[in-house]
Amino acid sequence: MKKVLFVCLGNICRSPLAEALFKRHIEENNLSHDFECDSCGTAAYHIGAPPDERSVANALLNGVDYTHSGKKLAKEDFETFDFIIAMDEENLKNIQKINPNGHSKIYKIRRFDLQGLNKDVPDPYYGEEQGFQEVFDILNRATLHLLKEIYASKKKLLR
Ligand code: 4NP
Repeated sequence: MKKVLFVCLGNICRSPLAEALFKRHIEENNLSHDFECDSCGTAAYHIGAPPDERSVANALLNGVDYTHSGKKLAKEDFETFDFIIAMDEENLKNIQKINPNGHSKIYKIRRFDLQGLNKDVPDPYYGEEQGFQEVFDILNRATLHLLKEIYASKKKLLR
């Protein structure tokens, strides 16, 4: 069993969608028994809040229905999760600052996106409608590639 935590700033736009898309890839590949995932934010603005309605509406247009309750990253998460996956450089740095016990598998999600290697996932919160589709497409690709990397090249990432 491998546990994966997706992290953004507010935990209402990017990371809950990353969680939902990773889950969909897991289910479609009959790997539900091998993986667990969750999401949280580095900020506390939206604790207990549902995902941003624009993200949810856009995901529904793409056939993905999901929900989540906003959480803030906690010290215990570094013990619970095998992989901590940040949406952008700022979140990665903030996660690294907390990292209490030298967790070594903290990555930016676009490390796993061959179309935009190591870029940030743009924050759609203050942007236009089309930003939500762009984020959906990035996260759909990157979460599938992440799953493949964790599953297929175990030696590389699971050591
Ligand atoms: P997220 O987007 O980090 O993808 O959930 C944001 C959500 C809320 C805020 C910023 C980014 N905010 O400033 O409230």
